[in-house]
Amino acid sequence: MRFLSFLTIAVLIASVMAPAAHAAEPILIRFSHVTSENSPKGQGAVMFKRLAEERLAGKVKVEIYPNSQKFDDNQAPLGLLFGDIEMAAPSLSKFRAYSKKMQVFDLPLLFSDIDALHRFQQSRAGKALLDSMITRGIKGLTYWDNGPRVISAKRAIKQPADAKRLVFRIEASAVFQEQYARVGAVGIEMPFKRLPDAMKEGLISAQENAWSNIRSMQVHKFHNHFTELGHSYLGYMVITSAAFWNGLPADVRTQLEAILKEVTDKVNSLAAEQALSARQEVLQSGAKLVELSEADRRAWRDALTPVWKRFENEIGSDLISAARASN
Ligand code: SIN
Repeated sequence: MRFLSFLTIAVLIASVMAPAAHAAEPILIRFSHVTSENSPKGQGAVMFKRLAEERLAGKVKVEIYPNSQKFDDNQAPLGLLFGDIEMAAPSLSKFRAYSKKMQVFDLPLLFSDIDALHRFQQSRAGKALLDSMITRGIKGLTYWDNGPRVISAKRAIKQPADAKRLVFRIEASAVFQEQYARVGAVGIEMPFKRLPDAMKEGLISAQENAWSNIRSMQVHKFHNHFTELGHSYLGYMVITSAAFWNGLPADVRTQLEAILKEVTDKVNSLAAEQALSARQEVLQSGAKLVELSEADRRAWRDALTPVWKRFENEIGSDLISAARASN
C-alpha cells in the first residue's frame, strides 16, 4: 500500500514535470552563412536573432554560424535537409542543383539596375521562385541584397578582350562558367572562404564580387583594377527546410515571417550603404576604377548576352521575359 502511494506520487510528479520541461525548451534555429558578422547578410542574421528572441522569448533560440564556420554555401541546403541547421542564406547563384530556374539571376546584363531586380523578386514570377525548390524540401523565405558584382584583376579590364586568358574565381554557377568562356577567360568555381588563399597563391588572376565582400576579403591587396560592369547582382535567398518550417507552431511561424519581412528592409538598406562605403574604402586604398565608354559597354553586351539563349531551355523563356519586363 505504502509502495503504491509512493508510485502514485512519483507518477504524479513525473507527469507534472515532463510537460513543464518540454514547454521550457525553446525551438532552436541554427543560421549558417559564409560572410562576416558585419556584412549585410551577417547583420541580417544578427537582427533576426535579436528580434526573434525578443518577440518570441522562451519559444525560440537562434544560433548564428558566420564565416563558413559550419557549412559552405553548396553544403548548406543538405545541412538543412539533414537537420544540422534550420536556416541559411546562400547566394542566388548557388541553387542550380535544386532548381535550374534560379539561374535566371545569373544571366549577365539581364537586369538594368537593382530596382529592376527588386521589381522582379516581388513579382509573381519572382515570388514563385521562393517555392521552386519545395519538391526538394527547401523553402525560400525572402530575398536579401548584397550589391552589384564588380570585376577585379591586376590589369584593367575595359573591353571583353582584356579578360582573355585570365583565371576568374567564380561562384558555383554554370552561367558564370559560360560567361567567362565567351570572353576567352577561365572560371574556377571555389567556395568563398578560399578566395584570399587563391589570390595569395596566385591560383586566380581575377574575380568578381560585391564591394562589401571585396573589402572583407581584402581583394584590393592583390588586385588594383576594378570594373563596374553592372553585369550581375549578388543577392541571397534566405532558406529553410520545408519540413522544419511547416512543423513550427502557427503563431511562431507567423511571427518569424513578420520579423523576416522587417529584417529584409533593413538588410537591403544596409547593403546599399555598404556598397558605397566599401567602394570608397577600396578606392581610397589606391585601387583604380576602370572607366567604361558606351562602346565598351556595347562590346560587353554583344559578348555576354548570347549566354541567355544558351540557358533558355533550362530557365524557361517565360521566366527570362518576366525578368526583362521588370527593367
Ligand atoms: C556571399 O556573399 O555569400 C559569398 C558569395 C561568394 O561566394 O562569392
